[in-house]
Amino acid sequence: MQNLELKISYTELENENELNEQEKALMQKAHQSCSLAYAPYSHFFVGAAILLENGITVCGNNQENAAFPSGLCAERVAIFSAGASYPNVKIKTIAITCKSKFFLVNQPLSPCGACRQAMSEYEMRYKSNIRIILQGETGKIRIMNSISDLLPFMFVAAELKK
Ligand code: THU
Repeated sequence: MQNLELKISYTELENENELNEQEKALMQKAHQSCSLAYAPYSHFFVGAAILLENGITVCGNNQENAAFPSGLCAERVAIFSAGASYPNVKIKTIAITCKSKFFLVNQPLSPCGACRQAMSEYEMRYKSNIRIILQGETGKIRIMNSISDLLPFMFVAAELKK
């Protein structure tokens, strides 16, 4: 028997003022997109802004549905939109934020498992790490330099070929 440990790395900043100008602007776009989310059932609004290697930004927000599972999270709306409009363009960074109608979210959002898995596909596809910047409506920012810091032991395409 062997008990093993896995190390993940992340950075925390006090607030958006500690981001560089490019990443601060990206987070602002995520906040703007968050305000445009369609979330009439949960009243929990999520926004994502993706910076591509060609400098273009692609945004997305959660889109809910009366048949609940038919809706989609902000991260996947954004990442699939980037994949659909700019195939083969590397994804450099994704900024993600959220807010609620009922309470102040002052902690960074923790993206759901399905979105982590969806993001992992694009790191594999482009063989390039994606930087993830997380913030609530306000407050502390958490940054990972790769999806592998968010989703250790992710399912990868190589497992389909064994
Ligand atoms: N949601 C996201 O958009 N991203 C996540 O990572 C977690 C949850 C959305 C889905 C749903 O519209 C609402 O937040 C409440 O779960």
